[in-house]
Amino acid sequence: MRAVHTVSDLRKALESAELIGLVPTMGALHAGHENLIEMARRECTTVVVSIFVNPIQFGPSEDYARYPRPLEQDLEACARRGADLVFAPPVEEMYPLPQLTFVEVTRISEHLCGKFRPGHFRGVATVVLKLLNIVQPQRAYFGEKDMQQLQVIRRMALDLNLPVTIVGVPTVREADGLALSSRNKYLSVEERRAAPALYQALQAAVRGIREGERDVTKARTAALEILEKQPLIRVEYLEIVDPDELAPVSTIGRSVRIAAAIWIGRTRLIDNVFVKATAPQVSTRAK
Ligand code: PAJ
Repeated sequence: MRAVHTVSDLRKALESAELIGLVPTMGALHAGHENLIEMARRECTTVVVSIFVNPIQFGPSEDYARYPRPLEQDLEACARRGADLVFAPPVEEMYPLPQLTFVEVTRISEHLCGKFRPGHFRGVATVVLKLLNIVQPQRAYFGEKDMQQLQVIRRMALDLNLPVTIVGVPTVREADGLALSSRNKYLSVEERRAAPALYQALQAAVRGIREGERDVTKARTAALEILEKQPLIRVEYLEIVDPDELAPVSTIGRSVRIAAAIWIGRTRLIDNVFVKATAPQVSTRAK
């Protein structure tokens, strides 16, 4: 495995590559990222992992400066999971000039995280398009943990006729349900203990819907009650949304996603789950 830091070295290294799979990351790799790399390894002949903490997707009061950057460990993880090439450019390589061109995926970017992180998805879509243009992969891998990001990128690829297949990969979780995230490293022992309530809350809403609940307010309340029991947790949003554009729904139709963002101390965590609202079991047996 090789690591390169410039666009020209990357292009040289990929000169004769055939089926290229790209896994874009911001580093601080964990088993969730590794799962994406493994999936790319199974499906592609050349696997490229990009590691770049993208300044333009962070708001001014967010954690850009303190975001973890353990490059040596990350390179080891990439090698272990079978990546062929790591692209880890410095900021000046990705943004040699002030960036004047941005990609905006409207509507899908506007609710959920988009409401609380203005400009975030514009920064994500812009850097992902740059990475796709630099690496020119046939396939690119993204986690369902960041479902709104995945839908934004899918829609960008469709709307702009990008010659790439966007692959969504299921969320990898700890044994207690907490979705793996580079930001879990920020949690104190006490905060870590409270964190699984996020997934438990989503599961409570899922159970309700599976049992026939069709009232959005009631399904949300079941989830919010679990989070309210945790004094360390502040809920930013918890919404029941349509699975494509992720807009909040007013009634629960055939299938929905439940998505939430919470703060635990200074750490922001997000998670989401899909639920198919099949009709509740009706007994047809004569009484
Ligand atoms: P980052 O947070 O490093 O995540 C890189 C990829 O790993 C994303 O596609 C994310 O959804 C996926 N991922 C993270 N945690 C996961 C988990 N527990 N299970 C499965 N997949 C998981 O997302 C970004 O970086 C950036 O926004 C990026 C797309 C690289 C653009 O800068």
